[in-house]
Amino acid sequence: MGAGKKAFLRKKVTPIFNKIPLEIMNSFEFISYSEKETVALGARLAKHLAVSDIVALFGDLGSGKTTLVKAMAKGLKIKPNKICSPTFVLMNIYDGRLPVYHFDFYRLDDVQEMNLIGCHEFFYGDGVCVIEWAERLGKLMPKEYLGIKLQHQNINERRIQCTAHGKRYQKFLEILQNQ
Ligand SMILES: Nc1ncnc2c1ncn2[C@@H]1O[C@H](COP(=O)(O)OP(=O)(O)OP(=O)(O)O)[C@@H](O)[C@H]1O
Ligand SMILES: [Mg+2]
Repeated sequence: MGAGKKAFLRKKVTPIFNKIPLEIMNSFEFISYSEKETVALGARLAKHLAVSDIVALFGDLGSGKTTLVKAMAKGLKIKPNKICSPTFVLMNIYDGRLPVYHFDFYRLDDVQEMNLIGCHEFFYGDGVCVIEWAERLGKLMPKEYLGIKLQHQNINERRIQCTAHGKRYQKFLEILQNQ
């Protein structure tokens, strides 16, 4: 085989091989069989959260979003009595190992959406953003984030799917899985 053909084969093979780990780390899902297991996931996530990280939570009423946020916040050394769902105020701020900006967009309507432009200051700021009802953000949704979708299976079971949007979060999932 000539040198030219060998170089051509190398070029063809390398990019495909490089893609495999990225695809594997893009998402994973598992079943949480109890609130305790969801809390354990929150504690694991908290260990790896860093400044400017965004965790977007999706799921129906009572699927476990606030439960997960509370566990993450606790893992970030925030006193449990400080943490409550910000349903009526859109955002709570907690001080821990890092500042945590806890959004809940359940009651968001179009008028309020205009005011939301300001939330981007928090998204790319000095802390961690956790967002309940992130789907309500629509076009304001950041491009890069860790998405967590919670689905009811039965009274104590939730299907939890974590998806990385952006390289930072692919790395995050990789670390989480290998922990
Ligand atoms: N495996 C589980 N994971 C998480 N929560 C569970 C699980 N099994 C039962 N639960 C219960 O489900 C409820 C979840 O409530 P939570 O407030 O966290 O939901 P939410 O998604 O934030 O709801 P909302 O959309 O109203 O804010 C809690 O009462 C919790 O005890
Ligand atoms: Mg909630």
